[in-house]
This record gives sequence, C-alpha cells and structure tokens, in this order.
Amino acid sequence: MEYAIGIDLGGTSIKYALVDEAGNSFFEGKLPSFASVSAAEVMARLVEAASIVKHEAGRRNRNIRGIGLGTPGIVDESNRIVLGGAENIVGWENIDVASVLEEALKLPVVVGNDANLMGLGETKFGAGRGCSHVVFLTVGTGIGGAVIIDGKLFGGYANRGTELGHVPLIATGERCACGAVGCLEHYASTAALVRRFSTLAEERGLEFDAEIDGELIIRLYREAFPLAVDCMNEHFYYLGRGVAGFINIFSPQRVVIGGGVAEAGSFYVEKIKEVAGGHVIMDCALNTQIVAAELGNRAGLIGAASLIL
Ligand code: BGC
Repeated sequence: MEYAIGIDLGGTSIKYALVDEAGNSFFEGKLPSFASVSAAEVMARLVEAASIVKHEAGRRNRNIRGIGLGTPGIVDESNRIVLGGAENIVGWENIDVASVLEEALKLPVVVGNDANLMGLGETKFGAGRGCSHVVFLTVGTGIGGAVIIDGKLFGGYANRGTELGHVPLIATGERCACGAVGCLEHYASTAALVRRFSTLAEERGLEFDAEIDGELIIRLYREAFPLAVDCMNEHFYYLGRGVAGFINIFSPQRVVIGGGVAEAGSFYVEKIKEVAGGHVIMDCALNTQIVAAELGNRAGLIGAASLIL
C-alpha cells in the first residue's frame, strides 16, 4: 500500500494525516495555523505538521510518496505557488509553498485550492462517490467550492479553479473580503451568519452564556429561538439561491454541501433544497440531489493526498 501526507491549511488550524490509496487516514492531528501572524509563521507550522506525519510513518515503515496540500486562495498552474486570494491568511501571496516544503521534508509536493480538494475527496471517497458530475460547496469562515465534470476536477483556465463563494449574488450588496460587492460568501458563510446574529442580538439587548458561533446558533435554531430561526432562514435563503445557480449552470448529479454547520443534521440540506427548488430550471431540479458531505473536516486532506496517490 502507498501513502501520502495530506494537509489542509485553514484560517484557524492546519489539519494533517497520513492517507492511503483507498482514502483512509491515519495519525490525524491539527496545529494552530497562526494565520493572523505572518506567512512565515504559517509556513513553519506547515513544515511542522508534515514532519509529525513523516516521523510517525517512518516509525511504522509506511512508504510515503509525497505531500498534498490544500490552501485557501488561488494556486498557479504548476500546482506549487499560492498566487493570492486567501484573505484570511496574512501575507499568503506569491508563496512558493511547494519548494519550501520539498526542501524541508525531501518529498515531492503538490498544492491545490482547499475547497477544490475537499470536493475531490468527497467525490472519490465521500458523498459524491459514484457520480461523474458533482458540485461541492464548503460553508465555513469563507465559502469555497469545486466542480467535478466527467469525473475530473474542473480547474478552469490556468488552474484558476472555481471560486463559487465569490459569485456576486446581491447586486447592490455589501463589500466582501475579496473586494467585490455582494458575494455569496459575504452573505451565506458561517462568519456571515455569526455576524448577523451578533448584530441583531446586540440591538435587542440579548446575552448568551456561550460564545456566539455556528454551533450555538444551530443549537438555538433547534430550540426554535426566534432570532436563531430568522438568521438561519436568511442563511438558507442565500445558500439555496446560490446552489440553484450552480445547478442551473453545471447540471450536476449531486450537490454536496460541507463545513461545520452544514453537517449539523439533515434539516440543513433539506432547507437548502426547499429554497433551491424554487429557483432551478425544471429538468435540473428533477435530476440533482442535494446532500451533506460525509468526510467531515478530513475531506480536504484526503483530497490533497489523492493528488499524489
Ligand atoms: C477563498 C477560497 C477558499 C474558501 C474556503 C474563500 O474565502 O476565496 O479560495 O477556497 O474561502 O477556504
């Protein structure tokens, strides 16, 4: 059996594991990414993560073919350099991350967009298994996506990928972190949900005994707490419209939705289906299933490792 080190770099943490050809993961762990400190700090943490896995694999005589890394932002066509577009990592622009990791670990490295690789992982080993046409959406701090066409990850011209979170949904909307106006991400990400809930809670003088995050809002939604219900319905409204757009464009067999809140329960995709159903062209609506992701936060590193295996 051959193995690769899979790494998923996020704004909060770096997730890592050793992954085999069948998509199984071992020695999983995570480190803080220090994304708000500097690119050098993030780079050092990436080297540390890869070294931990390499060391474990060495102890157990597992043969490592290389390292696959998923990162937010746009990666160049050689799958080595992060060009930019990762707004939540300080200075993460024009970084030859593959060369630095290769030099430090003495293993070949392939780099890709995090969400693209999560979509690849879900298609090969998760909720998109058996499908040739899949649209994947991850709903977290940002919104990222992947499009699989004829069984292959669609990379666009020069590997620019598919930035599904930056579809301009609201013509006269607020400015997104990317600089454009009205992006899906700015309205439908978990960060947007938390922002909206916090603002309204403050206006209404509401206080909570836990930190306001996606988990708390989902819990309150389940308890039918009115503010949580309103904010979640708005969240579903934006996501459902975005998903309908992707269905109309790509006619996928399945839309797979991942990310912390998205995997909270089957109600989440059901709500998105309700909204999307009203906006898709009939044939597409009949053919497309909207389902929750299955690999949880391992999707990215499994997809990244699969680039090597
Ligand atoms: C970035 C994408 C990334 C997504 C998920 C977005 O803000 O623009 O490149 O895939 O977040 O991390």
